Amino acid sequence: MKTIAIINLKGGVSKTTTAINMATLLAGRHRKRVLLFDNDPQGNASQFFNCYEEGKETCAAAEILRRESSPIRWEGHGLQVINANISLLAADNALRASAERQDNRIKEYLQSIEDKFDYCIIDNPPALLMCTINALCAADEVIVPVMLDNWAIDGVEMIAAQIEGLKSLNKKLKIAGILLTNYRKTDENEVAEKWLREHCRYRVFETKIRRSDKVTAATYYKEPLEKYSPRSAAAVTYRKFVNEYFQESGVQK
Ligand SMILES: Nc1ncnc2c1ncn2[C@@H]1O[C@H](COP(=O)(O)OP(=O)(O)OP(=O)(O)O)[C@@H](O)[C@H]1O
Ligand SMILES: [Mg+2]
Repeated sequence: MKTIAIINLKGGVSKTTTAINMATLLAGRHRKRVLLFDNDPQGNASQFFNCYEEGKETCAAAEILRRESSPIRWEGHGLQVINANISLLAADNALRASAERQDNRIKEYLQSIEDKFDYCIIDNPPALLMCTINALCAADEVIVPVMLDNWAIDGVEMIAAQIEGLKSLNKKLKIAGILLTNYRKTDENEVAEKWLREHCRYRVFETKIRRSDKVTAATYYKEPLEKYSPRSAAAVTYRKFVNEYFQESGVQK
């Protein structure tokens, strides 16, 4: 199983949209066994997969942090989901306050189910919680979605610094690349993109995810873009991105 963390400490940069569409493309188009791990107390990915349990005092992601056995894996759009809600925050705080080792809970869980999946995609919160550190300790690779604005590069540097700091806990961890999201072709964005590609010390994926009104609508109807609007610019570019990303891993296109 390959574990990919979608992460940026900045909010609203398309982490969840990328996790959902990447996971459903892998499961549907590429016929892979996929686990989508919602590691965000906001539970947006869980809402999308209809497994958001509002008001419930626990969730699968919290149970994993507490090392409880056999958390439920939900099903949706051809893949399985570890759900989250706000109770993940309480589990996170409790773990942070405990005297035990804190960084290896997600890693232990994923190791226990390693044979059941080909890919685990982890959607993360825009904050460095203990669950985020757990995700970074469990991941093989990180994808950093970035929206072009004045502070785009800051977001990359922030998460890169954290990853460097965690190298002693997870030697294999690497930044697979920076993914430009919600992209609109304007003169300003072309200049900003050129600057980023020249100055960023990490790979910036060739494919940019285009902005499209269909994204919000697809989320509203809880459908992957591939199903809701396969010809929309966002759907086309997500397909292209998954092909680009997985070319080296030999995933069938
Ligand atoms: N390609 C796109 N085109 C149009 N809208 C988009 C696109 N990608 C994301 N959005 C919209 O931008 C908003 C933020 O996206 P998303 O929730 O994926 O970001 P996030 O990084 O997960 O946010 P958070 O940090 O709160 O978890 C959503 O309303 C989403 O529908
Ligand atoms: Mg999100």
